[in-house]
Amino acid sequence: MVKICCIGAGYVGGPTMAVIALKCPSVEVAVVDISVPRITAWNSDQLPIYEPGLDDVVKKCRGKNLFFSTDVEKHVAEADIVFVSVNTPTKTRGLGAGKAADLTYWESAARMIADVSKSNKIVVEKSTVPVKTAEAIEKILTHNSKGISFQILSNPEFLAEGTAIEDLFKPDRVLIGGRETPEGQKAIKALKDVYAQWVPEDRIITTNLWSAELSKLAANAFLAQRISSVNAMSALCEATGANVSQVAYAVGTDTRIGPKFLNASVGFGGSCFQKDILNLVYICECNGLPEVAEYWKQVIKINDYQKSRFVNRVVASMFNTVSGKKVAILGFAFKKDTGDTRETPAIDVCKGLLGDKGRLSIYDPQVTEDQIQRDLSMNKFDWDHPLHLQPMSPTTVKQVSVVWDAYEATKDAHAVCILTEWDEFKTLDYQRIYDNMQKPAFIFDGRNIVNLDKLREIGFIVYSIGKPLDAWLKDMPAVA
Ligand code: UDX
Ligand code: ADP
Repeated sequence: MVKICCIGAGYVGGPTMAVIALKCPSVEVAVVDISVPRITAWNSDQLPIYEPGLDDVVKKCRGKNLFFSTDVEKHVAEADIVFVSVNTPTKTRGLGAGKAADLTYWESAARMIADVSKSNKIVVEKSTVPVKTAEAIEKILTHNSKGISFQILSNPEFLAEGTAIEDLFKPDRVLIGGRETPEGQKAIKALKDVYAQWVPEDRIITTNLWSAELSKLAANAFLAQRISSVNAMSALCEATGANVSQVAYAVGTDTRIGPKFLNASVGFGGSCFQKDILNLVYICECNGLPEVAEYWKQVIKINDYQKSRFVNRVVASMFNTVSGKKVAILGFAFKKDTGDTRETPAIDVCKGLLGDKGRLSIYDPQVTEDQIQRDLSMNKFDWDHPLHLQPMSPTTVKQVSVVWDAYEATKDAHAVCILTEWDEFKTLDYQRIYDNMQKPAFIFDGRNIVNLDKLREIGFIVYSIGKPLDAWLKDMPAVA
């Protein structure tokens, strides 16, 4: 029986291993983590992450061929294939601060693998890491190997949160990079055999190590670039009276461009896009390519611009101040169908409004008060460390209250900001919300999900990204 161990029971490791266990009954999968609460949650009815369909998959396999454990060393020692899916935060100090990946956790995992291994192993990079990390890891492993042979593979994960299980069941492709030696090719085949149990062979792409590592960074940079492109257009649409949804539709019907990932928004978030682009920028700079670095940096700059543009719209429309005013925030997660708040645009928008002394009442169906308070008081990049290394008791931000109902959040508010595209926000009783708000009542839709005409009929002053502006907003221009 092939034994797989995955180090890191997070958003990538957890769902990916659960699906491998489901699709490969003859493989034994152990997911290990240094975080005791995380593993306890994986072994309970309340999984540590919210992901549609995940509960089902875990229930079917847990205790049979899927195990969650904190006994990292034991499971690593027993495994034939070790996936590494640990945190790779952006460095906050030292060389490459603010851009380069901090590989502390990766390095400590690699040293531990070398320490405890008594048999040959395939070590698979699953977390997104900078190009050539595999080479560094290989060096750590071979220099500490005690005669054991390690083959290192790069197998980047392309799943998107909220649709992780669907993406894992039917991936566009599985990418496996390895050494071009006979041993490297043998290792690639061993991993390919696992995926081939449910993924058609022609969707399993094999490459050299560097190509696989770079492809992950490139794919995320291309996706983020599309969003920044359409967001840049949204600013121009507002200035000229065009409608960004119409423009995106017209552009996206060109089969060479395609319709996906062209939704204008308050900005992209998530654990990958910004981090991976910063990484790419750093790698370009290190390789003497400042023009290429500058090109990709612009994708992040537009994203930051989009978030501050949104805050400026809110403040400017409300007589240039939100000081002391209640602003309801609907949605805090970085996208719908997840409770994940890593790099969510809501953090920057909320901080911007708090900076103008607004009082915030936040509702998100999947994000806890504790998480929101942490996010609003944590320093940039601090989120990307194992839980037990994050600040223990963050100071609570007093001007923020977190409630469990959209109507409660909007009661007596001066304005509503929609920051996540949760389906339930489309069907709220907006008349009821309007009746209970201060007047004039404002809605700032950062996700383009509300029916503008209906809301205007009710009496709201509405701002929707990239849409023709209400007369009110035209009279109160936001200076970015
Ligand atoms: C992304 C990649 O899609 C995935 O392949 C990779 O493995 C990890 O990074 P994820 O971050 O989970 O996945 O979510 P994604 O659906 O890509 O959305 C990222 C952000 O972009 C979200 O904040 C989302 O709201 C935003 N977005 C997405 C837009 O603003 N407009 C769009 O058209 C699409
Ligand atoms: P991702 O989104 O890439 O899955 P997460 O932050 O959700 O990232 O998960 C990474 C997990 O890796 C965390 O649960 C963390 O506790 C775990 N981790 C970090 N370093 C180690 C290590 N040396 N051994 C075991 N687990 C680790």
